[in-house]
Amino acid sequence: MIQRKQGLGWSDVDFDTQDITLLPTLDTPKTKKPYYQQWYLCWNIHVPLLLGAWLLLFTLGELGASRYAVHSCSWANIDQHEHRLVVIADPQLTDYYSYGMARGSWTLALTEFYSDLFMRRNFQQITRMHTPPDSVLVLGDIFDGGRILDAEAHTKHRDRFNWIFDTGRQSIQFYNMTGNHDVGIREWYSDEAAKKFQEQFGPSQYTVVLGHVELVVIDTIAMLSSNSTVRDAALEFVKTYGSMKSKHNYPRLLFTHIPLYRPNQGATCGPSRHSPIKQGQGVSYQNVIPKQTTDFILAMIEPAHVFRCIFLVLDALCEKSE
Ligand SMILES: *[C@@H]1O[C@H](CO)[C@@H](O)[C@H](O)[C@H]1NC(C)=O
Ligand SMILES: *[C@@H]1O[C@H](CO)[C@@H](O)[C@H](O)[C@H]1NC(C)=O
Repeated sequence: MIQRKQGLGWSDVDFDTQDITLLPTLDTPKTKKPYYQQWYLCWNIHVPLLLGAWLLLFTLGELGASRYAVHSCSWANIDQHEHRLVVIADPQLTDYYSYGMARGSWTLALTEFYSDLFMRRNFQQITRMHTPPDSVLVLGDIFDGGRILDAEAHTKHRDRFNWIFDTGRQSIQFYNMTGNHDVGIREWYSDEAAKKFQEQFGPSQYTVVLGHVELVVIDTIAMLSSNSTVRDAALEFVKTYGSMKSKHNYPRLLFTHIPLYRPNQGATCGPSRHSPIKQGQGVSYQNVIPKQTTDFILAMIEPAHVFRCIFLVLDALCEKSE
């Protein structure tokens, strides 16, 4: 045991031999100890115990948490013939734009690798579910700095995407969407980035029937573009395809990267979200689309549910609302 004698400095601390075997550098207790050694002694830390606890926490965090999260989810409909769709929001692959790291630096390479590994591991849990999904919809913001990536970086990022979302032996169809981090927003909308994105991830707006529902994916980023050609094409899609209901008149699910308009007061976001969505915008984002555009979309598409994406400080949430 360590005893601290009343009124005396640390140089007068008595040591038990057991402690000394643990900390061999402390065999001359009569001399003044550097601060860290004093701190060490003060708490009497048992190193093997600490290592054991760390290892346990590490394993739980690295393997247990994702496993637990995925396995605590269950499909709403267990009918094997129903289509199962997983919606993934904002993977936002880390790049040199994310934290201002130099291109080609090892710090960037490590950051990219570990963030990719984290997502891959979580996705692997989804592919290994007892009944895996039939398809996956990525709700946009696949890239972080997509607006400024060159063609080479684009291809490299697509390869990273394919590695993270490796479906293994399962055949899972991917559906993609454009986000503000992929192509830029309003006056920062990059026509070039949008083209490159579509070459690698498919169209930015489409409809598809999966099971007994029709998915309508709209391009709200293009709708907010300051380029009127881009804007008109996105609105035209809503007008044209909105009026064309699927053959069986299936209920429609609307998917939008930017949430639809909501008033700042009195609009709740349901129990899964702790703070309401507030109107607001910045260089690379906008929280909601204008009321007029929202009314137009809802009148044309008449969705049964709306899925939208909203980026929080560290967390990406996707929500379903009536
Ligand atoms: C979505 O992107 C992935 C990766 O590039 C691609 O394999 C898939 O075909 C795309 N989906 C569509 C519907 O184009
Ligand atoms: C607007 O978008 C169209 C279609 O993508 C493109 O051809 C045109 O160059 C763009 N205009 C500007 C000013 O960027």
